[in-house]
Amino acid sequence: MAGGGAVSSSNGKVYPGKLTTRVVVACIVAAMGGMIFGYDLGVSGGVTSMDSFLEQFFPSVYQKQKADDSTNQYCKFDSQILTTFTSSLYVAALFSSLFAASWVTRRLGRKLSMLVGGALFCAGALINGLAQNIAMLIVGRILLGFGIGFGNQAVPLYLSEMAPSKYRGALNFCFQLSITLGILIANLVNYWFAQIEGGWGWRLSLGGAIVPALFMIVGSLFLPETPNSLIEMGKQDQAKAELLKIRGVDNVDEEFEDLVAASEASKKVEHPWRNLLQRKYRPQLVMAILIPFFQQITGINVIMFYAPVLFRTIGFGSSASLTSAVITGLVNVIATFVAIYAVDKFGRKALFYEGGIQMIICQIIVAILIGKEFGTSGDSDNLSKGYAIAIVAFICIYVAGFAWSWGPLGWLVQSEIFPLEIRSAAQSITVSVNMFFTFVIAQLFLMMLCRMKFGLFVFFAFFVVVMIVFVHYLLPETKGIPIEDMAMVWKSHAFWKRFVDDDVDNEKPKKCSP
Ligand code: BGC
Repeated sequence: MAGGGAVSSSNGKVYPGKLTTRVVVACIVAAMGGMIFGYDLGVSGGVTSMDSFLEQFFPSVYQKQKADDSTNQYCKFDSQILTTFTSSLYVAALFSSLFAASWVTRRLGRKLSMLVGGALFCAGALINGLAQNIAMLIVGRILLGFGIGFGNQAVPLYLSEMAPSKYRGALNFCFQLSITLGILIANLVNYWFAQIEGGWGWRLSLGGAIVPALFMIVGSLFLPETPNSLIEMGKQDQAKAELLKIRGVDNVDEEFEDLVAASEASKKVEHPWRNLLQRKYRPQLVMAILIPFFQQITGINVIMFYAPVLFRTIGFGSSASLTSAVITGLVNVIATFVAIYAVDKFGRKALFYEGGIQMIICQIIVAILIGKEFGTSGDSDNLSKGYAIAIVAFICIYVAGFAWSWGPLGWLVQSEIFPLEIRSAAQSITVSVNMFFTFVIAQLFLMMLCRMKFGLFVFFAFFVVVMIVFVHYLLPETKGIPIEDMAMVWKSHAFWKRFVDDDVDNEKPKKCSP
C-alpha cells in the first residue's frame, strides 16, 4: 500500500490502497491520546521540583531539600508521599485498562474509548489545577490515570487498524511522537510557569493537561471508526464503505473479506481473556508482558519523571534543572523522528539492538561520572561546569537511544502481533504491565537513588543487556508483514513454532515467509 499504489502481503496477495489524507488526519487526531499521556509523564517531575509546590503540599521534603549540608545529596527528595503524587496516576491507569477500557474498546469501539479517556482527562486536569490539598492532587491524578488507561488501550489499536501495512510502523509512531511532544510541552510549560511571580505557576502546569484532552474529545467525535471495529460490532456495510474511503481506491474486496474472516474467527471466541492463556497464544502473551516490562526497566522514566529532581540532586539550580529537562525532552522528540524514518526501512530488531547498546554505554558513563563526583556519601562541592555538561550530554544520548528503539517499539510491536480474537485483551495486558512498572519506577526511584546511589544506573544497564538477548532469541521481525498474516511469523520461528500448531491460523489459513 504505497503512497499511490499497492503493497503485496507476504503471502503474495495484493491489497490495493493509498496513504490517504483521511488516514493521516485520523492518525494525527488519535495521537492526541499520546500527547496527553506524555504531558502527564513530563509534568509531575518539574512541578515537584518547584519550591512553591513543595512548600505548600510537601513541607517536609521542602525543608530537607533546603537543608543542604545535613542531608546526603542522593536522599534529598526521598519521600514516599511525594512519589505517590507521581505514581498514583499509573495505578489508576492499570485498573482502568484491566477492568474497563478493554471491554469498551472491544464492544463499543475504539472511538468511544478515546472519548471516555478525553473526558476523564479533563476532569482530572481541572481538579489538579485547582488543588487545595494532597487529597485533591491525588484524586486528580487518579482521574488522569483512568483516562490514560482508555487512551493507551484504544489509540495504538486505532492507528494500527487504520494504517496500510507498509506504513503501519511509521504511522504507529505518531503515537510515540505525540507522547514525546507531550513530554516536551510539559517541560517547557514547567520552565515558563515556574517563573510566575507568587509561585502559583504549578496550577497552570497541572491544569494545562486540559488542552490536549479537549482536542481528543472533539477529535474523537469526528473520527471514523476503524473497519475492524465496525465489523466487530456487526456493521459490515459501514465497515466496507469506510475501508473504501480510508484506502482511497475502488476495490477493497480482498482486504475486506480477510478482515471479515478474521472477525468471524474472533467472534467464536467467547472468552478473550481465557483464550489468551491457551498454549497457542503463548508467544503473544509473553510479548504482551515482557516488552512493556523491559521498556520500563530501561530506566527511561527516571529521566522523564525525575530529570529536574535528578539534576537538582546533583547540584543544578532550580532553573538549570528545568532547562536541562527541556533539553532532554527535545532530544526525545527529535530522535523519535529518526525512528519514524528507520522503522520500516531497517526493521524493528535492528533498532532494538542499536538503541539498547547506546543506552547501556551511556548508563555506565553516567554512573561513573556521578560516582566519581559524589562517591557513596553523596557529598560534593559545587559540580564543575564541565561535569554538569558531560552528565546532561550522556543523558541526552541515552534518551535518543531509547527514543529510536524501546520507546516506540515498546508499543508498536505488540499492536501488530496480536490477532483480532485476543487483540483487545492482550493490548490491555500490555498497557497494564506498562503502567504497573511505570508505577514501580515512579514510586521507588527516589528511594532506590537514596540507597543504590550511582549504582542505580548500572542496575538499569544490566536489564538492557538482558533485553537485547531477549530480542535476539525470542522476538521475530515483523517489518512489513500484514497484521492478518502475523500468525505465520511464529510458525516459522525456531523457538515459538513448538507452541503454535498448524491449525491455529484462525485469521487466514495460508502460507507466507516472514
Ligand atoms: C513510554 C513512557 C516513556 C516515554 C518516553 C513511552 O513509550 O511508555 O513510559 O515515558 O516513552 O518518551
